[in-house]
Amino acid sequence: MTRRTDLAAIEAILLDMDGTLVDSDASVERAWSIWAKEYGVDPGAVLDIAHGSPAARTVRRLLPALDDEAVMAAAQRQHALQYEDLADVTAAPGARLLLATLDRLQLPWAVVTSADGRLAKARLHAAGIDPPVLLTIDDVRAGKPDPEGYLEAARRLRVAPSACLVVEDSEPGLAAGRAAGMPTAALRGLDGDLSLPGLGRLAHLLQRSRVRPWWRDAVGYQVYLPSFADSTGDGWGDLTGVSARLDHLERLGVEVVWLTPFYRSPMRDHGYDIADYRAVDPSFGGQAALDGLLAQAHRRGMRVIGDLVVNHTSDAHPWFVAASACAADPHRDYYIWRDPAPDGGPPNNWLSHFGGPAWTFSPATGQYYLHLFRPEQPDLNWRNPALAAEIDAIAEYWLSRGLDGFRIDTAGYLVKDAGLRDNPPLPAGRILPARGVTMDWRRQEHRHDIHQPGVHAIHERWRRIADRHDAFLVGEVYELDPRALARFVEGERLHSSFWFGLVETDWDADRIDTMIESAVLASPRLSWVQGNHDRSRAVTRFGGGLRGRRRSLALHALMALLPGTFWLYQGEELGLGDGRVSPGHGADPLGAAQPEESRDVARTPMPWRPGPGLGFTTGHPWLPDGARGDGETVAAQQDDPTSHLNTLGRLLATRRRLTHVLAATDDVRRVRLTAPVTAYRRGALWAVANLRDTPVADLHLPAPAVFDTDDPGVTPDRPRTGYARLAPQQALLLAGE
Ligand code: NOJ
Repeated sequence: MTRRTDLAAIEAILLDMDGTLVDSDASVERAWSIWAKEYGVDPGAVLDIAHGSPAARTVRRLLPALDDEAVMAAAQRQHALQYEDLADVTAAPGARLLLATLDRLQLPWAVVTSADGRLAKARLHAAGIDPPVLLTIDDVRAGKPDPEGYLEAARRLRVAPSACLVVEDSEPGLAAGRAAGMPTAALRGLDGDLSLPGLGRLAHLLQRSRVRPWWRDAVGYQVYLPSFADSTGDGWGDLTGVSARLDHLERLGVEVVWLTPFYRSPMRDHGYDIADYRAVDPSFGGQAALDGLLAQAHRRGMRVIGDLVVNHTSDAHPWFVAASACAADPHRDYYIWRDPAPDGGPPNNWLSHFGGPAWTFSPATGQYYLHLFRPEQPDLNWRNPALAAEIDAIAEYWLSRGLDGFRIDTAGYLVKDAGLRDNPPLPAGRILPARGVTMDWRRQEHRHDIHQPGVHAIHERWRRIADRHDAFLVGEVYELDPRALARFVEGERLHSSFWFGLVETDWDADRIDTMIESAVLASPRLSWVQGNHDRSRAVTRFGGGLRGRRRSLALHALMALLPGTFWLYQGEELGLGDGRVSPGHGADPLGAAQPEESRDVARTPMPWRPGPGLGFTTGHPWLPDGARGDGETVAAQQDDPTSHLNTLGRLLATRRRLTHVLAATDDVRRVRLTAPVTAYRRGALWAVANLRDTPVADLHLPAPAVFDTDDPGVTPDRPRTGYARLAPQQALLLAGE
């Protein structure tokens, strides 16, 4: 089980001073070094134990022969050295943002320090911080790790200890917080209930925890597990590999990670063919690796959702093994069986997405079974209440084990026409504009096999389970008409659903512009996404190269403002186009049936750094490496302020700063500005993008620009006002009062 710290339940923040709220490291070190020389002690040994402890305690440990009076004198000398040296004492990075956030959220706070009162006041004054409550070593009988200071602070703030969050950068401080019965947030890589890279992150997490529900406007990231990071050298991604890359996701600003299926599977569709819903496949690291990942993600305040694949199982699932062996088996009705047609062929004309009929004959019992995907992926019978109850229990199981929700695979397919009627063929010459399927599939009207109205009742049932766990359900529904899609997220149905308009389309600025507008109007609960593991990458579809990357980024800037969740598919942050996979080297079952639809191009390994294996694996990757250039790697992009990675990171950082403004309203309108650009307004915020290939001159900015795809110098702290000229695909975020 993994514990998640519920920041929404926190009513006060108790902060340590030195090293946490105030950056006094240099001054503290200098004072202890001088002191150590005066007292003949090794300065290295002093610094190791002094951090976070009252000076007298440190002196006692270093010089056990001293009597009490001598200890007090030595500690006072140490303090005196510190008062004399406040030159470079400043507020710690992120401290101002945190305190401004606490102010805005009206969260009371206090400073609890092991320094004495005079020193604490001097330091806080030097750093420009004026805490409403200050507890020092003068106020308590014993300093940290004794909990008295923290308990006293809680008492003065009139908040129960369990509702106080202790923020610390030292072991004694964390021990004091724990002993006080308070949840802890640790800096410097220490082990707290939360582990923070800095105070800015805490500001964001507290802010987000006040946005209910938590997934609203969240930033999600899809990890395609087989290709994200391999920790074992077997060439296949795994969960420990994901844990090792959480820094990258945290830096990028990811709040929710979606893991593609990790369950035990024969991998005929790379995990979307599940043989045991309650086991983690050993090739992904087993249960321990998942528990480790959940714990580490939760400690960073990130959520993790799984993939609920329950339209079908694997043919190796014990239910199907039993059902196909004997028509009288109780599991027989978990699947969809029919007698052959009079000519001995399949019972109707439905087709598999991956080629051929959607029916396979099972000689043991003389009937056909249905599979909308591979024959090794038999479809479940959602008209059977016993099956529905099994799936409820599986969802409960994972939510209790620490998952924060599910992406629901083929959420619109679960229920099939009761009479299994034939699909009508489309009029000759017409084909559906669908991708990720065979050409034959595109020649039918899918009136009876998919998107039957009965699915909503199933979603409502899961929603009740999810809401009990404060979990999030996002559907995979390939319904491109946003109004039809909106029905999947109405009322108590799914919390959200991906809108795949931008995943299915090639670049056509006018069309994309209109499509986005209709999706915005349809529902504030859609999930915005440009790519996934099933389609050619956006940058390639949008024309490839720099222009494809800029187009994708301009859409990301618009997406950043729109209500709903914002999703990245792994590698999108690097501006990746499709990976190169030469014929004969792919692994996708769809690619075997329809080579130009192969999904392998979107699944080549994540390029972490240049060189063999791309930092994805030390072995031989399961799919070709995609022929990535060095500049496409995380390593190459992270130090370049103008890289795709850092531009997207800046966009998301700006969005984080504006969380409270975003949360103020879901009401988004398209607005006409003084130049022909695409612009949306949400309360005090605007997103403006030039989606066309010609520049736009003299755009009057209705509010200060706080983000500019083309200028890293524009930030919320250094906004730009007045007029702008927008290059092709340049985009801005503006924030007014
Ligand atoms: C959608 C998944 O995203 C895809 O990868 C899979 O092949 C099908 N569902 C079948 O589960």
